Amino acid sequence: MRFTNFTNSVNPVFVTAPNIDTIVSLAKRRGFVFPSSEIYGGLGSAWDYGPLGVELCNNVKQAWWRWLVYERDDIEGIDSSIILNRLVWKYSGHEATFNDWLVDCRKCKGRFRADKIVDNKCSSCGASDWTEARPFNTMLQTKLGAVADDDPTALAYLRPETAQGIFVNFLNVQTTMRRKLPFGVAQVGKSFRNEVTPGNFILRTREFEQMEMEYFVSPDAEHSKLVDYWVEQYLEWFSSLGLNRENLYLYEVPQDELAHYSKRTVDIMYRYFPEREKPWEELMGIAWRTDYDLSIHSKNRLDAEGKRFNPDSTDDLSYFDEASKQRFYPHVIEPAAGVNRTVLAVLMDAYSEKTNDKGETRVILKLSPQLAPIKAAILPLAKNKPEIVGMAKAIKRSLQPVLRAVYDDTGGIGKLYARQDEIGTPFCVTVDHQSLEDEAVTVRNRDTWEQERVKVSDLAEHLQKRLKPYPVVTPEVS
Ligand code: GAP
Repeated sequence: MRFTNFTNSVNPVFVTAPNIDTIVSLAKRRGFVFPSSEIYGGLGSAWDYGPLGVELCNNVKQAWWRWLVYERDDIEGIDSSIILNRLVWKYSGHEATFNDWLVDCRKCKGRFRADKIVDNKCSSCGASDWTEARPFNTMLQTKLGAVADDDPTALAYLRPETAQGIFVNFLNVQTTMRRKLPFGVAQVGKSFRNEVTPGNFILRTREFEQMEMEYFVSPDAEHSKLVDYWVEQYLEWFSSLGLNRENLYLYEVPQDELAHYSKRTVDIMYRYFPEREKPWEELMGIAWRTDYDLSIHSKNRLDAEGKRFNPDSTDDLSYFDEASKQRFYPHVIEPAAGVNRTVLAVLMDAYSEKTNDKGETRVILKLSPQLAPIKAAILPLAKNKPEIVGMAKAIKRSLQPVLRAVYDDTGGIGKLYARQDEIGTPFCVTVDHQSLEDEAVTVRNRDTWEQERVKVSDLAEHLQKRLKPYPVVTPEVS
């Protein structure tokens, strides 16, 4: 496996948005993402996905689900609760260790994550006078039921990772689906973390969505090779979403930075900050979680003194291997990706600008067709001609069972094209006077601005062929 050396040099050869702010402004202007609760001054770090944003998120999640659960033979899907029994978080280690280390600036009283302080200086006031670092558990707490405020038995957590819902269901999935190792379980859903310093738009928020997959393998498997395998798989998948390989970078997490459950983690970083000296931030991580999770949730695991490690669990999450007649706790390789970070990377990579014949610069969002919120916009050339309008609306209705199509007559054709380019619609279909005669329409390509004439009867097939996802090569796990 080739690891790109970490470099601070910033000369992206490949065009992306120049910075996140460009995407924040486009996202708000065009209905992808709005600041949450804005009429009450917003809520730092919370964002709402608008009509186009929800489509983009859904398309990312569907592409991921299709790729892993439908197109492979070795992965099942589940959807577990967000609120789990508190004991899950006790035994997973999150109650004790899911901490950020906090320091306060003694001068301005600002509170910061110790690991994010640059050059020992307070980013608010410039002072270097800090309190001792102390742990802050970042699981978001809630109370269940109509209980007294101080009743400790009512405490529950909103899950900080979707993974634990998979571990506690390992046997349910394995036995009901009659699975043999190796196999994986995928889950997509919301996770919550009381981040100390959320920010950078949808990159770090307190409520976010994860796409996690736990791949269960034998204790004798080549775990490190499997980490490499899944890194390669995800690089391919991100390419299929349109991300440029040059904007991705692999980071081998050093031993002293590994999570409490991991023996090896490789992060796939994305160039979220092309304008900065340090442009990279984590897009996802691929971890070898060993047999940590399945064993700590099991009633039969013993501690060093031979006592039950987990006296609360009622089951044993071990696996009996028919071939070797051995019982063991499977090891886990976990690719854990963020929906929101994938969406942000996809938007940044898709951003481009193009100048037309009149010297006007237009934004074109070159989203992969499978991710585009709208696949085809049906536009009447003359909105005061009832026959043209009627034909355009009928075409829209005929397309909508097979692909997401919209009808728009709210401006001149140039403006309509520009709007669709800016939101990433791969095709504009224009109905003109001639269409009434020849039953054909003009199909305009977003990226090339080329136009071709297509018979209305062939239109659905013509578009569908060109909207196919880019293929991902999926070799068997060896
Ligand atoms: N189960 C392992 C796990 O949760 P993680 O690296 O903490 O690993 C996985 O999270 C992914 O979830 C990250 O790579 C990122 O894409 C996303 N993620 C984590 N915290 C996030 C946050 N506060 N806001 C947005 N996305 C986040």
